[in-house]
Amino acid sequence: MVKKAELHVHLEGTATPALVKKLAAKNGTLLDPTTFKSDGEFAWTTFWEFLDCYDKAAAAIKSKDDYRLITYDYLARCAREDVIYVEMFSSPDHAAQAGMSYADHLEGIAAGIEDAYREFGIIGRIIVTCVRHLGPEKALKVATEFVNNPHPFVVGFGMGGDEAQFHPRDFAPAFNLAYRAGYQTTNHAGEFGGPESIRASLDYLPTSRIGHGVRAIEDSELLEEIADKQIPLELCPGSNVSTGLFKSRQSHPFGEMMKAGCVVTLSSDDPPFFATSVGYEYEQAAKNYGLDTGDLEGITRSAIRAAFCDDTLKEKLL
Ligand code: ADE
Ligand code: ZN
Repeated sequence: MVKKAELHVHLEGTATPALVKKLAAKNGTLLDPTTFKSDGEFAWTTFWEFLDCYDKAAAAIKSKDDYRLITYDYLARCAREDVIYVEMFSSPDHAAQAGMSYADHLEGIAAGIEDAYREFGIIGRIIVTCVRHLGPEKALKVATEFVNNPHPFVVGFGMGGDEAQFHPRDFAPAFNLAYRAGYQTTNHAGEFGGPESIRASLDYLPTSRIGHGVRAIEDSELLEEIADKQIPLELCPGSNVSTGLFKSRQSHPFGEMMKAGCVVTLSSDDPPFFATSVGYEYEQAAKNYGLDTGDLEGITRSAIRAAFCDDTLKEKLL
């Protein structure tokens, strides 16, 4: 089986409906009844409803041990699909909304990473993220906690959330703080924002990789620049099809972007919300973009080269 690596997955978004319900029952949390459909799956239709449903499900994660469990549970699923390395987005804002401190949520995640490594040999690392629609002040607060609390598993800083809110320049103080402290950074851009959103992100924020970036396909000059500069793209075709950005996996431009010379990687984003997994993304990419085993192995190597972990670890993984 092809070894796989994932660079773009939101930790709260890895918990299955069953796990969310189990945690809610354990903690006595009353979840919003609109979180689930009658068949038990997460209930959302549009991207914005998805973001809302994500927040409702995340409310079930209440303690250090809960973060430990969801992290371990996700990495265990990945290990079964021959995933060797995962960079996970942690969200101190979601942890705070559930009443947890920055340190507790991080310690929980780190313990889950250690459990999974001991049991399966899979390596997990953390990218601390802020949430764009919560605004620049909260982002700067997260970045400040991030630089003041270094941890060997925390390898980078990022931002998710609604790209239509605020402007990348508003988040320059947060990103610059992380960058000046020596961290690499990634920002969600060119998902529900067009190519101009990617342009603005590149112009105003230190950018080691782009989260999604798929809508660079709409601007040939931008696509060429991203290819020339070899800025890695964290592409998530299954997520983009589920949220309605593309009608089907076949019409997703993954293959085209790869042919244009972009550094492409494959990720699941929020697997139970989008009925996917890293293994399924690789399988579907092979099927829909005509990739052979060598191509898939190349995508894994690209992901490891683009990873934010240290070079010694990369060399071991390559
Ligand atoms: N948070 C979790 N998943 C996300 C996505 N696909 N885009 C933006 N923010 C997110
Ligand atoms: Zn994402």
